[in-house]
Amino acid sequence: MKRIILLGATGSIGTSACDVVRTHPDEFKVVALAVRNNLAAADLIGKEFGAKVYSGEEGALRAVEENDADVVLVATVGLSGLKPTLAAIRKGMDVALATKEVLVAAGEFVTREAAAAKVRLLPVDSEHSAIFQCLQGIDIQREVSRLVLTASGGPFLDAPANLDDVTPEQALRHPRWDMGRKVTVDSSTMMNKGFEIIEARWLFDVPMDRIDVVVHPESIVHSLVEFTDGATLAQLSPPDMRVPIQYALTWPRRLPAERAKLDLAALSSLTFRAPDGFRFPALRLVRDAERAGGTRTAVLSAADEIAVSRFLDGDIRYTDIVKLVADTVERAPEIPCDSVEAVLEADRTARELALAW
Ligand SMILES: NC(=O)c1ccc[n+]([C@@H]2O[C@H](COP(=O)([O-])OP(=O)(O)OC[C@H]3O[C@@H](n4cnc5c(N)ncnc54)[C@H](OP(=O)(O)O)[C@@H]3O)[C@@H](O)[C@H]2O)c1
Repeated sequence: MKRIILLGATGSIGTSACDVVRTHPDEFKVVALAVRNNLAAADLIGKEFGAKVYSGEEGALRAVEENDADVVLVATVGLSGLKPTLAAIRKGMDVALATKEVLVAAGEFVTREAAAAKVRLLPVDSEHSAIFQCLQGIDIQREVSRLVLTASGGPFLDAPANLDDVTPEQALRHPRWDMGRKVTVDSSTMMNKGFEIIEARWLFDVPMDRIDVVVHPESIVHSLVEFTDGATLAQLSPPDMRVPIQYALTWPRRLPAERAKLDLAALSSLTFRAPDGFRFPALRLVRDAERAGGTRTAVLSAADEIAVSRFLDGDIRYTDIVKLVADTVERAPEIPCDSVEAVLEADRTARELALAW
């Protein structure tokens, strides 16, 4: 039986993870869980699974420090996932990582620590899980030429060019996926896809210029791997986060589950197109920040968190999100990304700049 610590248990990923555990009660045991402040819901989950419940800023970290497990599922939002992820690595526990901001802000550092501790970082994001599934038994450095991340394109893929007056309600209406608020808004600006490029860069140790994005509105092909011999593998399934979550928890095995299966004959077509760089400037912004190096991507991630929250509060316009992030990345001081303290310092400074913007 696999023991699991579940961070972010009441969220969109956390709820799907609970479903996966319910489907396989003989395979998984949740020993501890953490939330931010939704204690009523957390207590119910804790009772159901017989798990210890933690909450608040330090709760996720204590859940990891005070319990032993085989895998820690990190599914909180933003940099709150960093310290618990590092704590899990240092205790030698594998990490199923949903919180992409951890790798965006501190990918170099976190992957180095994981390699040193011989701990596995198992992708939960559907795109990275797809790539991970295509890479089983493959020597990435010798056999892979390119990773291709698919993007749904979000709600504004074919909207009129001027997005100035987009409301939070419109940005929160994702055509394919039901997700938490921050990641849903990030999907609509394609900042999310930019983050996923960085996530892939660190998870699979592939340089950014060998990671491409293709828009695929149906969200059936979750990503692709192109090999040096000219073959390409893809992973397909109906859009259901329980599939990648379960794979992260059962890897290297697969377990059966009663879920909708793909009916290819019923799909009229699968379409693909190149992303529109004018409509979605976030993609270039993220690539530039990664190329500049240091703590720039930590600044990017923190600035985006503030920008999205200010947009949802009605404080800035939709199109200001990317402008705010770009300005913050440009104005933040350069710091080498060589410690947690450096990442946290960059995060603090970026938040101050982004709040004052
Ligand atoms: N949703 C998806 O389909 C999806 C797909 C791929 C990747 N991701 C990534 O997965 C992560 C989680 O996304 P989500 O959509 O599940 O978010 P969500 O629905 O907003 O849920 C966040 C969860 O984390 C908890 N939490 C937030 N901040 C915390 C903190 N400082 N300390 C402890 N717990 C905290 C929340 O607790 P409360 O309920 O108490 O606030 C909640 O349980 C994000 O990084 C997102 O980018 C999500």
